[in-house]
Amino acid sequence: MTSPIALFDSGYGGLTVLQRIRQLLPQYDYIYLGDNARNPYGSRSFEIVYQYTLQSVRRLFDFNAPLVILACNTASAKALRNIQQNDLPRIDPSRRVLGVIRPSVEAVGLYTKSHCVGVLGTQGTVDSLSYPIEIEKLWPDLKVYQQACPMWVPLVENGEFDKPGADYFVQKYLDMLMSQSPDIDVIILGCTHYPLLADKIKKYLPDGVRLLSQGEIVANSLRDYLARHADMDQRLTKGGTIKLYTTENPGKFENTARIFFDGHLPVEHITL
Ligand code: DGL
Repeated sequence: MTSPIALFDSGYGGLTVLQRIRQLLPQYDYIYLGDNARNPYGSRSFEIVYQYTLQSVRRLFDFNAPLVILACNTASAKALRNIQQNDLPRIDPSRRVLGVIRPSVEAVGLYTKSHCVGVLGTQGTVDSLSYPIEIEKLWPDLKVYQQACPMWVPLVENGEFDKPGADYFVQKYLDMLMSQSPDIDVIILGCTHYPLLADKIKKYLPDGVRLLSQGEIVANSLRDYLARHADMDQRLTKGGTIKLYTTENPGKFENTARIFFDGHLPVEHITL
């Protein structure tokens, strides 16, 4: 039986993180759960996102995963702290659940010269103020400008991210962010779905503005975490396998997964 590293997202977005983690740390076993049936999370209440995320984490624990990464900003913003502080001690204090916001916040201050940073995220992530609050703690001299992009996740989930129709909404939200301050020189793509729109985002981004995608940041942070936590590293099996699960249509999920992984990766349907 494997003891995999588990990743969770509301849909396809976390695959952008799994891809980079797998490139950096190919030796581990991985499982991925996309709750596509209940996507998007970004427009849902705190209570519902917490409830759905906890269900998903429990399901991933059933697969013997000692470490779960919430590869979803909305879930990291709305559910992570509760799960870490209230649920994990009851369920199994030896397991770990990590999020994607903290590593992104650690990275952003290293890249900005103007000290003005932008955050693009779901409505839920933006309204939670998780980014401004965490950035203020670590980089108090940075100014943070946020913009919610409620149409971007549906564009990705519906396979429209590389189609001409996506351009309108990409330009719209970027303009809304940049109109808050022309001095923004670094933008965090604070939703794991957004790297799929990166080509279009770059097309409408003013020159000199840098985009931070979370895949690489989270992969580096996980590598450092495992180096610091040898006990966790020893619990993880190293067979190099990946298993993908979705709460929706496995055939559709397989098509999107092909963007990220060479060859055929079977996808199974599960219920939560
Ligand atoms: N990938 C999720 C995130 O990073 C998308 C949330 C959604 O389902 O709206 O926030």
